Amino acid sequence: MRPASLRTVYPGPGGFDPQEIKREFPIFASNPGLVFLDSGASAQKPRSVIDRISNYYSTDYANVHRGVYRLSARSTELFEEAREKMRAFLNAADSREIVFVRGATEGINLVAQSWGATFLKPGDEVLISELEHHSNIVPWQILRDRIGIRLVVAPIDATGGLDLAAFEALLSPRTRLVAMTHLANATGALVPIETITRLAHRHGAKVLIDGCQAAPRLSVDVQALDCDFYVFSGHKTYGPTGIGVLYGRYELLSEMPPWQGGGEMILNVTFEKSEFQDPPHRFEAGTPDISGAIGLGTAIDFIEELGRDNILEHEEALTGYGVDRLSRIPDLRLVEAGQRRLGILSFDLEGVHPHDLAQVLDQHEVAVRAGHHCAQPLVEKLGLAATTRASLGVYNDESDIDRLAEALEAAREMFLR
Ligand code: ALA
Repeated sequence: MRPASLRTVYPGPGGFDPQEIKREFPIFASNPGLVFLDSGASAQKPRSVIDRISNYYSTDYANVHRGVYRLSARSTELFEEAREKMRAFLNAADSREIVFVRGATEGINLVAQSWGATFLKPGDEVLISELEHHSNIVPWQILRDRIGIRLVVAPIDATGGLDLAAFEALLSPRTRLVAMTHLANATGALVPIETITRLAHRHGAKVLIDGCQAAPRLSVDVQALDCDFYVFSGHKTYGPTGIGVLYGRYELLSEMPPWQGGGEMILNVTFEKSEFQDPPHRFEAGTPDISGAIGLGTAIDFIEELGRDNILEHEEALTGYGVDRLSRIPDLRLVEAGQRRLGILSFDLEGVHPHDLAQVLDQHEVAVRAGHHCAQPLVEKLGLAATTRASLGVYNDESDIDRLAEALEAAREMFLR
């Protein structure tokens, strides 16, 4: 059983003790000794989420929005309760602004194919940055090739952060959308999205924020931020795979056509034509990932119980510790991450291929990601073909960083001897 409040029961850095939190994640009992430093790719799941999904299938499962029987009504209620949790998590004004999607990638594709293909015309510009991962590059390239928009890329500066002056200089009346990461997955660079949004709106552009790495680590308030779209993935936010959230301002969603057709999203269908539901159901064709949404709701409960300010404090402290610890390893270069790095430590050990390094770290039971992290242009811009990346979660603590550092020191001895 989980304690009533992790925050009060486990005082420690950020108000909680990762060792106790680790006990909430069955993966660590199944893999004793595991140092899991790949939450940026996908976070582990707390017992409450795993149990919730299993219980839901055992006790309340039926399809949603269709049945007149009580079980279906109950299932619908749970699904829509999950939507309300997402609304509160992002502080959206209305739960109709929450669209369930497969993940952040699908959310961005939805905006590109529905909003973009409808409201953009040849020559209009979508402004992204060099910090983006493929999910926030490729959907815009597909749209560019389909309708002739221009994809403009704001550069990073020498520190690895977004070059704000260059970004501002690229804004023009042609800029119709700024699509920007909140926190760069390959390097951990935090982007000042408040400033980005303000500047973009001043130029009349809409703003989409990719919150994949930020949503598990920071408080997000879409009303205070005033962005037009915000996306995040459930599986990086301690929830299940296959579910994610697209937030969209209601007036924008209500102008957007469906991007997929099928059941759930219609009001009336004849062979001649169909009428569509209002948002969000207009964008949720077919049977949705009901258990995924409910499981994600439980993951959000877990995060809220820990406290998002506490999580941020914990991740900041641990990031600082990691920077300090790894900086002391000879021949190791920490990849630049701008003025503020959060939750992600990307590095290069001179002369050692990241894949070889990650395999050696794995022999020390340290799980990290190696490669271009689905952000190939950024990694190349940083002068590398690949990096090794350690990414943090609520269950990590200084002992995990120490184990990483010791494994790196052993690998260095082995390779560079
Ligand atoms: N975008 C994910 C990552 O950063 C998969 O690893």
